[in-house]
Amino acid sequence: MHVIICSSPEEAADLVAREILDALSRKPDLVLGLATGSTPIRVYDRLLHAHQEDGADFSGVRTFNLDEYIGLPPAHPHGYRTFMHDHLFGGSNFTRENIHFPPTEGPDLVEKCTAFEAKIRDAGGIDIQILGIGSNGHIGFNEPTSSLASRTRITSLTEKTLRDNAPFFDAGEPQPSMAVTMGIGTILDARRILVQAFGLKKAEAVRQSVEGPVSSFFPGSALQLHANVTFHVDAEASSRLTMQAFYRRSQENVKELEAKNVL
Ligand code: F6R
Repeated sequence: MHVIICSSPEEAADLVAREILDALSRKPDLVLGLATGSTPIRVYDRLLHAHQEDGADFSGVRTFNLDEYIGLPPAHPHGYRTFMHDHLFGGSNFTRENIHFPPTEGPDLVEKCTAFEAKIRDAGGIDIQILGIGSNGHIGFNEPTSSLASRTRITSLTEKTLRDNAPFFDAGEPQPSMAVTMGIGTILDARRILVQAFGLKKAEAVRQSVEGPVSSFFPGSALQLHANVTFHVDAEASSRLTMQAFYRRSQENVKELEAKNVL
């Protein structure tokens, strides 16, 4: 597990966006796993900028979003399709047919979840998965006690997640309590995972994910089972890590090797 303690969320977003754009320059039909929420917005801003100012071409990129609420019509202002349209797809040249969201409508929703997994496999698997992390440790909407082997499926949201996400809904507006999410097993199949977490609110989630025991009770800890994960955190989100000095020194060591052209 790599931990990069960044000077700010901006620096983290620069690093994540740079890695995506580098991968895109090597593979124009890159397969991206995408997250919603406040965490990835700065990365999406940078991808938009790269398209609008530097001509980055996303037309061949295939995308798979992590999750979507059940019960919201596709164009609902608080649905994740709308979020992705507003923050990334609308201002860039992603191709409509290459954009995939977990299914949320019946009939046969369970079969549709299986078909979503098949679509990921048919695309050759996810090259880079972007992740945020919930304050209760969820990744995607894999809430505590989600099986570490879980696949895309229907799930219920915990009270904690409902409270955390309530500010995104208008007062009195019904808030969905179910979703379809990629499973932890689905996420772990990605070849590269880029996690970001910012602020004190995420400090415990980062500590448990990076340094805690692997447990379905804290889904972020499942990332320890993946060989190619990097956590990009700010000082506040890193504040409960016990090995901060080691992570900083490891960062310096990598920079040194890069400067010597060893990497
Ligand atoms: C969003 C998602 C969630 C969020 C997490 C953090 O697609 O899967 O796991 O990444 O809830 O949300 P923010 O970034 O709003 O703190």
